[in-house]
Amino acid sequence: MASTNTHHKTLNGENPKFKLLFLSKCVLVVLVLSFGYIYLDVKPDYSHNYPKPKMSHTVEDILYFERFLLSEHDPLDLNFPVSLENADLHVNPKHVGSTNLCPTRTKPVHCSSNNTGRCVKISIVGLCGGWATVLRKLPVKITCPAFEKTDIFLDHVGEVERIKEAHVVLFSFAANYLDMNVWLKLRFYRSPGQMWVFQSEESPVYARGYMMPWFFRNDTYNISNTYHTSADIPSPYGYYEPFRNENSNPVVNFTQLLKDKTNLIIWICSHCETLQWDRTKFVLDLQRVIYVDTFGKCGNLSVCGETWKATCNNEIDKRVSTYKFSLALENSYCEDYVTEKLWHALVIGTVPIVIGPRFENYNKVAPPGSFIHVDQFKSMEHLRDYLEYLDKNDTAYLEYFKWKSVGTVREHSIREHYQNHLSNDVLCSIADQYFQRQSSPNEFKMFDLYGPEWKGTCHHCGKHMWIRNYEHPLDHRRKNQHIWA
Ligand SMILES: *[C@@H]1O[C@H](CO)[C@@H](O)[C@H](O)[C@H]1NC(C)=O
Ligand SMILES: *[C@@H]1O[C@H](CO)[C@@H](O)[C@H](O)[C@H]1NC(C)=O
Ligand SMILES: *[C@@H]1O[C@H](CO)[C@@H](O)[C@H](O)[C@H]1NC(C)=O
Ligand SMILES: *[C@@H]1O[C@H](CO)[C@@H](O)[C@H](O)[C@H]1NC(C)=O
Ligand SMILES: *[C@@H]1O[C@H](CO)[C@@H](O)[C@H](O)[C@H]1NC(C)=O
Ligand SMILES: *[C@@H]1O[C@H](CO)[C@@H](O)[C@H](O)[C@H]1NC(C)=O
Repeated sequence: MASTNTHHKTLNGENPKFKLLFLSKCVLVVLVLSFGYIYLDVKPDYSHNYPKPKMSHTVEDILYFERFLLSEHDPLDLNFPVSLENADLHVNPKHVGSTNLCPTRTKPVHCSSNNTGRCVKISIVGLCGGWATVLRKLPVKITCPAFEKTDIFLDHVGEVERIKEAHVVLFSFAANYLDMNVWLKLRFYRSPGQMWVFQSEESPVYARGYMMPWFFRNDTYNISNTYHTSADIPSPYGYYEPFRNENSNPVVNFTQLLKDKTNLIIWICSHCETLQWDRTKFVLDLQRVIYVDTFGKCGNLSVCGETWKATCNNEIDKRVSTYKFSLALENSYCEDYVTEKLWHALVIGTVPIVIGPRFENYNKVAPPGSFIHVDQFKSMEHLRDYLEYLDKNDTAYLEYFKWKSVGTVREHSIREHYQNHLSNDVLCSIADQYFQRQSSPNEFKMFDLYGPEWKGTCHHCGKHMWIRNYEHPLDHRRKNQHIWA
């Protein structure tokens, strides 16, 4: 595939179609920019939402362009104040050339005539650098036994023009922004029919790096592989599985369970500042009304001293299981963004007190009656009263463990979760989707990062105002780009 494609010549005048398209875009950009200046009266009042532009499409494109190039915006928030004054909208077609997306010394791998069945070459944009090799040593050949005989060759995209060799391109773990120039190059070298896959285990709030310019929204990613249940290939952090065989149900020793619970509430956290809401302030406020032990960088207690060792995890688990409750506070409140914070608490055997997506969302994925959602309470005092009640009433407390006799929880460790995105299972599913789409390309919708399935999944952390008061204002994200999950 893709070896003889006229798109792949360099841009300097050799591809008239692209050049023409490009020039007309530049002219349009300049025209619209001038119009935008006039229309928006040079120094518009952006104190509220910016005015709904009459030329909605193009002015919005320009605004996006500017924000993107200045790289100091949050693409999730289309309402924050912007100015057009410093915009550098001149994208020089000559820039479409070489860029090394991942300086590795490994040789690319390819499908060859040796592959008797189906063969897919998958190349990764991203996941470059030291710890990527922890996830999977590249390049690698994988065979997919579950499907019709399929071989996969997986490697990194090095020089950007090399993406043309791939059938499928993975955009994996979007920590760094791709700038406009790189997007143009990627689009230029994309071969016809090539499938682009958006991979993220972070919420939309933290997965901004591969958010493409707004006006490429409908022809960038063919499929998604995220934690979200509606992803084309879902990779959840964990899940609840009811037992199929009623006879195999384990008997939970509630006496023992209760005997171990000598402490009340624990919070372990090392990322104290988050982009969407102020979880540290929430815990400080909670500590004013009820006793909470805090571990990690955001607390004042530690389990195994200053240095982090792998053996420490067992110590931490042991410690956590002595608490009746543990705070499972997600860094984002986005639909289905339910991480190991919930799953691990359940596995260890403590009752998670959660803030993240809505109660209904947790109720859908977590074991029945296994968690406490802060938004179930009218105030912090109501929450405190309830926790104190459970602390005194063993029968009521133990009801939170009833699910253990009817089902079990499967979780990935954080590392396994990252690895999962490059596991044989996921890669083979991706290959399968590729072949399905090839045989009937018009039957499938593109994955829209700006649509309700991704950007549109982050609403509020609750329906009660007292809990919403911990949400950060929208522009907080833009001002604090350095904060990581
Ligand atoms: C194809 O098979 C031949 C003979 O077994 C081998 O020498 C060659 O390295 C193989 N090529 C690839 C790309 O695997
Ligand atoms: C992926 O999307 C692009 C852009 O819409 C399209 O041209 C291509 O055919 C799609 N590939 C597959 C395998 O669906
Ligand atoms: C992209 O798709 C969305 C949703 O299907 C649609 O509302 C929008 O108009 C499309 N945008 C462009 C630029 O085609
Ligand atoms: C449950 O645990 C208690 C306290 O450790 C113990 O005395 C009891 O024998 C256990 N019961 C069963 C059925 O194992
Ligand atoms: C940790 O901080 C809390 C709240 O400020 C305080 O009550 C507690 O005594 C401290 N614990 C230790 C071990 O310093
Ligand atoms: C303790 O909890 C149980 C189960 O929820 C309930 O039936 C009982 O009335 C409670 N006891 C008290 C004293 O509140």
